[in-house]
This record gives sequence, structure tokens and C-alpha cells, in this order.
Amino acid sequence: MARPFGARSGSDRETPHGIEALTRRAAATPGLIPLGGGLPSAVQFPRAELAASFLRVLTKQGTPALQYGWPEGLESLRRWVAEWLVARGFHGLTAADVIITNGAQQALALATQVLARPGQSVAVDPQSYPSALDLFVSRDLQRVPLTSPKNAHVYYVMPAVANPGGGTMNDAARAALLARRRPVIEDDAYGDLLFAGSAPAPLAVSDPERVFFVGTFSKTLCPGLRVGWLVVPSRWRRRALHLKQAADLQSNSLAQAVVDDYLARHDFERRLPVLRRFYRRRAERLASAVRRAIPSWRFELPAGGFGVWIETDAAVDERRFLQTAVEERVSFDPGTGFEAWPTRGPTTLRLCFSLARPAEFEEATRRLARAWRRAARGAPRAGRAREGREGTLRRSRWMAAPTSPAPAP
Ligand SMILES: Cc1ncc(COP(=O)(O)O)c(C=O)c1O
Repeated sequence: MARPFGARSGSDRETPHGIEALTRRAAATPGLIPLGGGLPSAVQFPRAELAASFLRVLTKQGTPALQYGWPEGLESLRRWVAEWLVARGFHGLTAADVIITNGAQQALALATQVLARPGQSVAVDPQSYPSALDLFVSRDLQRVPLTSPKNAHVYYVMPAVANPGGGTMNDAARAALLARRRPVIEDDAYGDLLFAGSAPAPLAVSDPERVFFVGTFSKTLCPGLRVGWLVVPSRWRRRALHLKQAADLQSNSLAQAVVDDYLARHDFERRLPVLRRFYRRRAERLASAVRRAIPSWRFELPAGGFGVWIETDAAVDERRFLQTAVEERVSFDPGTGFEAWPTRGPTTLRLCFSLARPAEFEEATRRLARAWRRAARGAPRAGRAREGREGTLRRSRWMAAPTSPAPAP
């Protein structure tokens, strides 16, 4: 199994006490119910359709799918992405504005490389996407709070659906960010998986000259093909393309051709409500199971995405908790993997509802409750407002009021 997001790597975020080894052990444990990892449900991969596209592009005259292509990517796929984004509010976007990347992760890497030099600062949420944090560490960037009064060199945000919080950035926070007039990397990896209502227009729509916009098919089609995109403000486009070419010449021709063929033949727009309902139902099922099994844990229902961010009521040894959970045959993503800088306070974690079957949620949370009782024995109880640390469930400051979706049909 792929390295689950939440497993840690990278210099000063290097796993301090073997969390990654435990996460790998969890992935290989028979009968374990995975509530960690943040992987999409394989049930939703359009396998037959992608297989047909695969065969079609491989038997096409001249097989361009097996040939070199341009660094910016397949023109028809870039056109599709541009039209998709125009429908989301982007004005006058064309294929020329889009670079096809090896997943959103490469788009983040290119944007970071264009915008920030080692030693400069990147502003992030206190809890953020682990592989973006690893990337910033690997580029030797200082991580500072988004709300810091002093401007950072670059801002990294997930305005539509944040990972791990699962919230949507509110209007005041969006306005405050844009008012800084600094370069922004807008990660929209989960933007199409907002459970209810439509996502607010991307920040890049309001400030196309400063905002790098990152998207991906990993969450809505499948991650294995590694097809994502980057919309680069015009003044940085040549540099981004140059870096893309230097990194890997181009994104995989075959994967691009398969996705392009798939999109030409299937209504992607109609696929999304199905996915949103599917993941929303799972989010609600997992939330109720957690409430029943461990009522002292606090969380808010996510507005979208694959996981629920949880704040517990005690400060336990995270490694011991994960080890106990794996013994009980359930996994989770330890909270410190998402921390942009070390914090004190109650143990936090992310539970993913995307991969395990909902029928397993009750059993999974019973196992988790047992593991928690074992791990928390003797640990200091954390009050609701523990001294020295604000809770991590601070939607009010950054996040829009959580949507309360109608019960899924
Ligand atoms: C917020 C966020 N951004 C980017 C990515 C990377 O996506 P991709 O698989 O397209 O590289 C992920 C993957 O989990 C993610 O959660």
C-alpha cells in the first residue's frame, strides 16, 4: 500500500519515535480496519471505463500515448481542465494557462520552487497537509502562522476543503489573505468533494496574478494515474514550465491520454454528486460511531474530503496509542503528522471514512475506544481549554460555519 498521508518523513519532521514504522505495520496487518491513510475508496474507481480508455489509447494510430509529449501536457486535457475551471468562475482561462503535473503534489512542488527560496517563510495553518509540510521542510522554508501580523513570503491554503480540518475558509479570512497581496498557493485537492452547496469561487479567481491554483484527479478519479494540474499566474509561467521540464520532462503520456479519453466519453460533472453523497454518508456514519464509542472526543462534521479531525480529552503518548490501536487492529493518522510546528495539549488524530466500509465503522470505533482506554490509562486529562494551547477546532476564526447537510438519501 502507498505511504499513507499522515505517515511522516523529512528532516525536522522526521518521525521521532517510529510512527512511520507503525503506520507501515498497520497497512500490513491482516484484519485491520483502516481509519488512517486518507486513501479514496477503490469502490469508486471507474475501473471498466478506465480499462476501455487504456485499450483505446494504446491502439490509436501512431500511439501518441506511448510517445514523448510537451512539458505542459496534453493540449486536449489542458483544454478540458481550463473549461472545467471556467465553469468554476475563472475568467478567460485557456489551455495555455494550465500545466499538467504528476498529481497535485508535483504542482505544489513546482509552485513552491517558483515562489520561495531556502530560508524564506511560508504561512500555513497550524494543522496542514503533511506532504506539503514535508515539501516546505525539504526546501528549507520557515513555517509561520497564517494569521501572523508580519507578511510571509508565500501563503499555502486549502480554502474549499482543508486537510485535515475538513472546513471551508470563511469570507473574512479569504478577504484578509487577499489583502496581504502576497503570492498564494491554493490547494484545491478536495474542492470537488464539498458535501453540500457549491464551493466558493477559488481565490485564484479574485487574484489570478498572485494565486497558483493546484488541482488533481486523485480524489475524484483515482490517485494511481498521478494526473493533476497547476494554473500559474502569467508572469511565472515560463519559469514553472522550465522547472517542470528540468524535473521530469513531462507528465506521463499514457496516464494523461487515459484520463483525456475518459473525460471525452463520460460526464464528469454527473460523477461528482455521486461521490459527494457516497463520502458524506460515510462521514456521518463514522461521526455517529465515534460519538457512541468515545463520547469525550470532540470534532466537527467535515464540510468535505475524506477525514474527521479529532481532539481527544487527554495527552497520551501518541506512539503508544497507535501501537495499541494496531494491536486492536484499527489504524488512525496521528495528529502530530499534521502539525506545522510542535504544540502542547490533548492528543489529536485524523480518522478517515474514505477507505474502510461503513459496515465496519462500529467495530472499528469499539477497537479504537479499547486502544484509547489502554493508552490513556494514567495520562493527564486535558480540560476543554487546556492552559497554553488553544483547541485545534477553531472553525470560527478561519472556517465558515460548518454546513449541516440534509441527511444523505
Ligand atoms: C490537501 C492535499 N493536497 C495534495 C495532495 C496530493 O494529491 P495528488 O495525489 O494529486 O498528488 C493530497 C493528497 O492526499 C492532499 O490531501
